[in-house]
Amino acid sequence: MERTLSIIKPDGVEKNIIGEICKRFEAGGLRIVASRMMHLPAERVGEFYAVHRERPFYADLVGYMSSGPVLVQVLEGENAIARNREIMGATDPADADPGTIRADFAASIDANVVHGSDGPETAAQEIGFFFGDNGVCPRTR
Ligand code: CMP
Repeated sequence: MERTLSIIKPDGVEKNIIGEICKRFEAGGLRIVASRMMHLPAERVGEFYAVHRERPFYADLVGYMSSGPVLVQVLEGENAIARNREIMGATDPADADPGTIRADFAASIDANVVHGSDGPETAAQEIGFFFGDNGVCPRTR
C-alpha cells in the first residue's frame, strides 16, 4: 500500500470537474484518505515547488497555482504513485495518452489540471507539507 499527494489545480477547480477527476482516481483503484480545498498564497506555493526554483517556468507556476483555490488530496492504493501518474497522463497535455485526465481536460503545460508526486520520497515530503503527521485518515472501511 502506497500514498501519493494529488492537487487538483485552479483550472480543474474552475472547470468544476472535481467529481470527474475523483471518479477516475477511484475507478483506478485509489482511495482518498485526505482532502482539503485551499487558496494558497504565493509564498506557500513557492515553498511547495522549491525544487523548481531555478527553472524558467517557476514564477509563472507560482503565480498560476496561487491564482485560485486548489483541492489537495492524499490518495492511497497499490503502487499509488505510478497509478496516479498513469491516470493523470504526461505533464505536457500534448504528450498525454488518450483517456488520461490531462489529455481530456488540460489546456497547457501550466494549466494541466492535476499535480501528482513523482516518487516515494517526494510523496512523503509533499503529504507532510500539507497534512502533517495526523492529517490523513486511515480507511478502515
Ligand atoms: P507539476 O506536476 O505540478 O510540477 C511542476 C509544474 O510546472 C508542472 O506540473 C507543470 O504544470 C509546470 N511546468 C511548466 N513548464 C514546465 C516544463 N517545461 N517542465 C515541467 N513542468 C513545467
